[in-house]
Amino acid sequence: MDRLITFSDGTLYFIDQTRLPNEHIVDGYTDYRDVCAAIKILKVRGAPAIGVAAGYAVALAAHQFIAMPFRDYAARLTSAADELAATRPTAVNLFYALNRMRNVITAFSGNDNRRLCDALLAEAHAIADEDNALGRKLGTVGAALLKDGDVVMTICNAGSLATAGIGSALSCIYIAKEQGKRVSVYALETRPLLQGARLTTYELSRNGIAVTLITDGMAGVVMKTKGITAVITGADRIAANGDAANKVGTYGLSVLAKHHGIPFYVAAPRSTFDLSIPSGASIPIEERSAEEITVFNGKRIAPEGICVYNPAFDVAPAEHITGIITEDGVLTAPYRERIQKLWGGASHG
Ligand code: MRU
Repeated sequence: MDRLITFSDGTLYFIDQTRLPNEHIVDGYTDYRDVCAAIKILKVRGAPAIGVAAGYAVALAAHQFIAMPFRDYAARLTSAADELAATRPTAVNLFYALNRMRNVITAFSGNDNRRLCDALLAEAHAIADEDNALGRKLGTVGAALLKDGDVVMTICNAGSLATAGIGSALSCIYIAKEQGKRVSVYALETRPLLQGARLTTYELSRNGIAVTLITDGMAGVVMKTKGITAVITGADRIAANGDAANKVGTYGLSVLAKHHGIPFYVAAPRSTFDLSIPSGASIPIEERSAEEITVFNGKRIAPEGICVYNPAFDVAPAEHITGIITEDGVLTAPYRERIQKLWGGASHG
């Protein structure tokens, strides 16, 4: 699979996901402020991909402002990082990547803009390369939970369009296929922005995985009648107790899976854990504009002035999660103790 996000000659490139699946347009960015705007409107989206894009956007700012006097340069880059941090609040990978970029700025000694610029680009590449490498590792861990003939339900898009590699939830399915297992997928359309309908069906079908699209409200009846053997979702932030925030609808899926006795897995890299957050109740949940719900395909579908609530994410409680698939293995309850152990008691986030 091609790399989702690339950087060359002072330009950052990624596909405009708002145009998929009908148009495959790769945009080039030379101004970090345009990357901020692209993240806000989900041209690039998915927790790890947002982090990777933000890392490169700081490197972009370093190219943009290279001619500044050094005494202003580092401060200007830090303020670019602050603007990027204000784009989307839920996915912790954004803050993880920006912290790494800020650390490069703080630790830099000397007064040579070019050297700092090179160091920032090297760090952005490192964040992307690490995410790319761990996708296969995480997928291999998750594929071991799947057997030939399994039918997996998923929501939103946690695949190669959401990471620098082959994905998190979907990487388990890709690796299972490589291992010769026939695994098929029911993809929820994922209202209101339709990441499931537009992106997950697109990438799964292009990669030879049998996928059936359903609306979000069909999840219960499909679990009851279509032989779903596992639910696997991605995550945007996992609290220290194992509560996992992901695309709105994930909480409902976790309740339904529990009711039907279907294993519910969350697949996420270590960069998605936030040990500074004790439980899901403290995870900041992004609320987006009313128009995402009241307007469909450019046409108003709800009365003017109607009250709208549009949270982009919700939280699957740890007690509904059968296992959290990471690049280091599958975590199971009791989560708080096992998450602490995975980090050797260290905090991250
Ligand atoms: O609003 P989005 O499209 O950025 O939401 C993405 C999700 O909820 C994904 O499931 C999550 O980020 C994991 S991506 C590997």
